[in-house]
Amino acid sequence: MKFFIDTANLEEIKEAYDLGILDGVTTNPSLMAKEGISGHENVLAHYRAICDIVDDNVSAEVIATDYEGMIQEGEELAALSPKIVVKIPMIKEGLKAIKYFAAKGIRTNCTLIFSAGQALLAAKAGAAFVSPFVGRLDDIGTDGTGLIAEIVEIYGNYGFETEILAASIRSSKHILECATIGADVITSPLKPITSLLNHPLTDKGLAQFLADHKKANGK
Ligand code: E4P
Repeated sequence: MKFFIDTANLEEIKEAYDLGILDGVTTNPSLMAKEGISGHENVLAHYRAICDIVDDNVSAEVIATDYEGMIQEGEELAALSPKIVVKIPMIKEGLKAIKYFAAKGIRTNCTLIFSAGQALLAAKAGAAFVSPFVGRLDDIGTDGTGLIAEIVEIYGNYGFETEILAASIRSSKHILECATIGADVITSPLKPITSLLNHPLTDKGLAQFLADHKKANGK
């Protein structure tokens, strides 16, 4: 299972990378805006900076929603680094763009997936990743991880190679549910990832080990 971090914040990306568990990064226009990154050249420079930190799998999203625009932007993004995965929205023109990039050997991440039908179409078009949004489905009272299970089953039926990238992760519970179901990748903010580290019995056990060592060594 791969772990991506869902942020454009360079410090958080470095922190996750230094943990030794990071396989990639996902960004989106909202996350870039949150970091105050604006203007074409600054956006490209920021993607380069992210690529300098991690080993692979940096999702960079196109802004255009027409086919020609997505191709032009996607090619420019892909030329930044072989680590770039072009993130394309799940719309009709997006599907065509995914097909185009797949034929050129450029990896895509089809984003804003909210149904199994959308995930099926993205896989058929040749997306390297699909991003079903777990948290946003939960937010409207539907079953986010249920969608992950549905896509795992459908892709398994036909041997699609598209990786299921569970996105919009809000908690460590989401991460574990996705792992149990068999998502290929989760993308999450840093906190749900670091929360997986914690257990009170670990803290208690370590304190006891250190106290016993101190006693035995006369300190
Ligand atoms: C996916 O790649 C998106 O960037 C992200 O996971 C959306 O998460 P949110 O619903 O917390 O904004």
